[in-house]
Parts: sequence; structure tokens; C-alpha cells
Amino acid sequence: MGYIITFAQQKGGAGKTTVLAHLAAGWARAGKSVALLDLDPQHSLTRWAELRADPNLTLIESRNYRAASDMKQARKKHDLVLVDCPGADSTLLDNVLRESDMVVAPCQPSAVDVWASQTVISSAARFKTPCRILLNRVPPRMSTLDDILDSLGDAQDLLLTSRLGNRVAFAQAFLDGRTAGELSNRSAAARETKALQAEIEEIIAA
Ligand SMILES: Nc1ncnc2c1ncn2[C@@H]1O[C@H](COP(=O)(O)OP(=O)(O)OP(=O)(O)O)[C@@H](O)[C@H]1O
Ligand SMILES: [Mg+2]
Repeated sequence: MGYIITFAQQKGGAGKTTVLAHLAAGWARAGKSVALLDLDPQHSLTRWAELRADPNLTLIESRNYRAASDMKQARKKHDLVLVDCPGADSTLLDNVLRESDMVVAPCQPSAVDVWASQTVISSAARFKTPCRILLNRVPPRMSTLDDILDSLGDAQDLLLTSRLGNRVAFAQAFLDGRTAGELSNRSAAARETKALQAEIEEIIAA
């Protein structure tokens, strides 16, 4: 049975699609069969995947009302199922989280993002779905970062050790179906993505 990871965060633009795509490409490169479920009506993940045309990445057409059953089917055929879940629809979020093995919530280092993360944290807790918070777009120097992390309270325990910096390569690569690591495999973005992938693999294996 494949492992389902949902990327969710109520706050728009937190990095759900970007992070999901980078991990998907990394696992596909490692020979895993990866299914992608794009539940966001903006379909940016779909566009990226179509541009990429990677044989190890399978786009699954889905709709909100049948998302959970599509996830169940997908996990029978693929090693990993990655779900891009738009933020605002709480019924959809609940249905998807119930079926997920893990939820990753990208969160930019701002009070607004931290507050918005509470929605996914509490929904995940309700369904006992392990939740991890990924700090994304972290600037190189940020004196207020500790204060912002403090405002997470107990949820600080959910923070992944890996973080992604605010790097143009993430956005640039996405435009033509690539990853930041493919633009330059010795870049900081490439290192960060590999570290994140390894950390999530450890969680899956635990
Ligand atoms: N680490 C990063 N560094 C620089 N830019 C980033 C980073 N992560 C994401 N971005 C950029 O931020 C914007 C929002 O990212 P993305 O679309 O992945 O967020 P999202 O959570 O999926 O948004 P939405 O809620 O609209 O679906 C995009 O332009 C993306 O290229
Ligand atoms: Mg998105």
C-alpha cells in the first residue's frame, strides 16, 4: 500500500504546490511511482506535471466529492500519493485528512501564516493524522523568527527540522516543469530539498 501525504495550509501562497512538486520529482527520480492529486481549482500542480511529462509521475484526475475514494484507489497502485489540497474548503480538508498518512503544512515565517496553520493542525489532530509544519521562504537573517516560532506554542513540536529559504530558483524552475535542483544541483535550494525529502523518508520509515 502506498503512503499518502497531503499538503495543506489555509493561508494561500504558503508553498503547498511548490513543495509538493519538488518532493514528487525527487521521489520519481529515486524510482518511486508517485501519484499526484491536484484538488486545487487553479490546477498549478497539473500544469507543472504536464510540462514535466515524467513517466514516474501519474496525474490522477479527481474531484472534491470523490477525492477520498480516488486517494484509496491511488495508494493501491503507487508508492506515494501526494495531494495538493486548497486551503479554504474545510469539508474537503477533513475528507482528505481522514484518508492521509501525513499532512505537511508549509508555513511562511509570519504571524499570519502561523495563525492560519492552526486550522490544519486541529483538523489533523481530530483525525489523528500526523501533522508536520514546514517553514518555507525563510529569509537569510530574521531577528523575529524565534518570536514567531514561540507563537506556535505546543505546535512547535510539529516543526520539521528542514526549512526552505526564500529562493528565486523555486519559482523559476516551476515555470517549465522543472525543480530548483535541476536548475543547479549544487544550489542551496537543491540541498534544502534533498534534506527535506530525507527527513520525510525517515518519518515514513519510523
Ligand atoms: N521557498 C520559496 N522561495 C521562493 N519562492 C517560493 C518558495 N516557495 C514558494 N514560492 C513561491 O511562492 C508562490 C506561492 O507558492 P505556491 O503556489 O507553491 O503556494 P500554494 O500554497 O500552493 O498557493 P495556493 O494557496 O495559491 O495554492 C509561488 O510564486 C512560488 O513560486
Ligand atoms: Mg497551490
